[in-house]
Amino acid sequence: MTAGRFPLARPRRNRFDDATRRLVAENSLGINNLIWPIFFMEGTNTTTEVASMPGALRVTLDRLASHVEPAAKLGIPAVALFPVTPTEIRDEKGSEATNPDNLMCRAARLLKKEFPDVALVGDVALDPYTSHGHDGLIEDGYVVNETSVGVLTQQALNQAIAGVDIIAPSDMMDGRIGSIREALDTNGLVNTRIMSYAAKYASAFYGPFRDALGSGSLLSGDKKTYQMDPANSDEALREVEMDIAEGADMVMVKPGMPYLDIIRRVRDTFRVPTFAYQVSGEYAMLMAAINNGWLDRERAIMESLLAFRRAGAHGVLTYFAIEAAQNIRATFGR
Ligand code: PBG
Repeated sequence: MTAGRFPLARPRRNRFDDATRRLVAENSLGINNLIWPIFFMEGTNTTTEVASMPGALRVTLDRLASHVEPAAKLGIPAVALFPVTPTEIRDEKGSEATNPDNLMCRAARLLKKEFPDVALVGDVALDPYTSHGHDGLIEDGYVVNETSVGVLTQQALNQAIAGVDIIAPSDMMDGRIGSIREALDTNGLVNTRIMSYAAKYASAFYGPFRDALGSGSLLSGDKKTYQMDPANSDEALREVEMDIAEGADMVMVKPGMPYLDIIRRVRDTFRVPTFAYQVSGEYAMLMAAINNGWLDRERAIMESLLAFRRAGAHGVLTYFAIEAAQNIRATFGR
């Protein structure tokens, strides 16, 4: 542009007022795009806050219904269940995972009865139940595949029978989706959905979650022999392709914000329902900055979630789900 002449094309015109900005917005975040992960524990009358996740709570089972009620009232379509298992109940083989009366199953039965319209997402992995904190079984220091898949399949079946609607294997063993699909179908659970943690990375961002469940201090070594290398991108597509072929109905990329490129590639390549997990470490980072007054709370949270939609995610698992839904409600119809 030379001095004295006007540019004919002005992208800024579409940003002139709020009405126009809303008209041209390419993406939006709605309540239907939210899944709320929740922590619960044995005992009564107790709520504790996760130290590294300010604002995230663990509640005893008697308080679970009132904990979930706001989600149901706001119309959040699904909650993801994470039981805190006492150390005494953990063992080498994660036996508690297949107990039909374990905390997870009791929670699922209770919530299905109280809130039949809220879908329950059940994490399938042995880490809440193993004394070593790994997602599978260990033989000679290695997390073995086939034997682990056998137990994980039983764990998935156990959850589905208790009322979990969406089985979400987060263990990263090979072949577990096919094995779980077959077991569900054989047992008449043909409509139980599978949301596969298909591209799950061996990430530093799960630290606060492991604190929440008490599996962090127990964990021996790391999960690099089964979770993906953060250096890889093509490999994520291979994982997703295999899980879809084995019967996954929905796939997930995890963590979220550092892996938006993976979400975009998965969505463009497969065009299947794709979800992102804004994990505990991302929540902790945002909350730390917010609580220091370094970031504007509402704007930072909503922008972080909208980014997942722009990257191509249908929905996001986020510890901010309630607050985000409240914000969406408050601005709706403005
Ligand atoms: C269990 C599981 C983990 C998370 C979800 N399911 C931790 C892990 O793999 O060690 C992490 C979620 C979060 O950090 O918010 N396999």
